[in-house]
Amino acid sequence: MEREARHSSGLCPAESSACPHDLEAVSKVLPSRRPGGDNPRMDTPTPVLTIDGPSGSGKGTISRIVAQRLGWHYLDSGALYRAVGVAAGWADLDLDDAGALVRCTFDTTIGFREGEAGDLRVLVNGHDATDELRTETAGAAASAIAAIPEVRAALKDRQRAFRQPPGLVADGRDMGTVIFPDAAHKVFLTASAEERAERRYKQLKDKGVSVTIDGLLREILARDARDASRAVAPLRPADDAVRIDTTGLGIDDVVARVLDVVSRPAG
Ligand code: C5P
Repeated sequence: MEREARHSSGLCPAESSACPHDLEAVSKVLPSRRPGGDNPRMDTPTPVLTIDGPSGSGKGTISRIVAQRLGWHYLDSGALYRAVGVAAGWADLDLDDAGALVRCTFDTTIGFREGEAGDLRVLVNGHDATDELRTETAGAAASAIAAIPEVRAALKDRQRAFRQPPGLVADGRDMGTVIFPDAAHKVFLTASAEERAERRYKQLKDKGVSVTIDGLLREILARDARDASRAVAPLRPADDAVRIDTTGLGIDDVVARVLDVVSRPAG
């Protein structure tokens, strides 16, 4: 896979060090850069497009395609919270034990690498946890862990390290509000809870996972409520985000609308 494609498919720094796929290129860039993405040799900071929204709003799919079209890096911030959730599960930690979960966040190494099929694999403490990460159990654990302020603080710099030229598409819940408040372009994707449950149902059914739409709808509503009501970095659109309701829209339509946002002058 060519370098641009590797990066735009999400294979860039997961650990604060550097992209494991292009250490040379990244090390050429990092020393001359200030934290936050300002490059003293350039007039403008590295552009960021934030795509926030609730579970199942299509953020992941849309963000990957848009990153590929733009040739920008891609950050799946939810994967970091899920990775900590999976590591906590492996260590049999109690999800109510905030102290243990914070220690687990610091101790967990998270890496991204390209799979044989050109897909994105996520390594948790050196083990390929890609499939486990996508389970509803990992999502629910991530949502509980993500409510702990110290966990969010510990993951902040790991997320900001993804901001590398030529640009970054960052998907999550607080990308536009907390992690990249100065992003040039911000989008907030929504869709009805029923449609989100249906999309998730189809995804899981294709993977041979047995679930019910009603069960998924309940989980989605519970996760939305927890993400939106937590005290730190609650799920909400940034004031300057463009809201796109994807209910009833196809992927191509949503991608076109997001690219239209990027093509508008920033600010
Ligand atoms: O996006 P994804 O469903 O993979 O995220 C899993 C969980 O991680 C979310 O339900 C949310 O609680 C948390 N999360 C977060 N902030 C982000 C990304 C994810 O709190 N930026």
